[in-house]
Amino acid sequence: MHDWLSIFLITLIGFGIAALLYWLLIETEGVFLGQRVVTWLYNRYARRYDEIKRFVPQLEVQHLSQPLMQEIAPNRVPKVLDVAAGTGRMPVALLRLAGFSGHVIGVDLSLKMLAIAVAKTDSPRVSFICAPAERLPFPDQTFDVVTCLEALEFMANSRAALCEMARVLKPDGVLLATNRLTGKWMFGRRWSAGQMQEALEAAGFVQIQFERWQVDYEKVWARKPLT
Ligand SMILES: C[S@@+](CC[C@H](N)C(=O)[O-])C[C@H]1O[C@@H](n2cnc3c(N)ncnc32)[C@H](O)[C@@H]1O
Repeated sequence: MHDWLSIFLITLIGFGIAALLYWLLIETEGVFLGQRVVTWLYNRYARRYDEIKRFVPQLEVQHLSQPLMQEIAPNRVPKVLDVAAGTGRMPVALLRLAGFSGHVIGVDLSLKMLAIAVAKTDSPRVSFICAPAERLPFPDQTFDVVTCLEALEFMANSRAALCEMARVLKPDGVLLATNRLTGKWMFGRRWSAGQMQEALEAAGFVQIQFERWQVDYEKVWARKPLT
């Protein structure tokens, strides 16, 4: 009887530890273990990232680069910063668009994600830098556009990152970010539309607009004020 109780308790503890590890490493992608773990996980999964996400090139253009270029028309030569660029989703979508003649810089903390991005974008109009979103290595008012897709919820300090995005944008510059809609286990890391709006306003953005997009994310548009 005593042995059965021990086996039951050990099995229960084993399941508990497995569930905890699943939540920490898979379900919430390391966000509760710190930035180093998030980066380590993205380095580990970099080669499988595109396979998992299954981006459809035409849809990426239709939903990302085309509306972005419409938003900043008639500027066809913008300086674009893609924060948390990953495997180069946004730079690729911009390069596929005939109307885009600008330059894109992608920033990310995962060198392995960036290595894939470099391999996919063989163009002098694209470059990548390994740096944290919370300390962008650019002077004030450098970019016409800043994008940040599917990444704010993974950052150590997403509010600081938004302030940095506002700092490096030129006056009247455009921000295209995303707000996560799913992930009920990401306690406190996922923002409601109201929280996102408040964080953007606190960072100094105006003209904030939410646009339905995917099941997991909505697009969020904003501008840096002219003065
Ligand atoms: C889900 S991926 C999104 C990548 C890309 N934007 C896309 O839409 O496919 C999240 C990315 O954010 C990066 N990341 C997380 N925290 C970061 C931080 N504080 N600074 C820079 N990059 C960060 C990760 O390394 C990862 O490449």
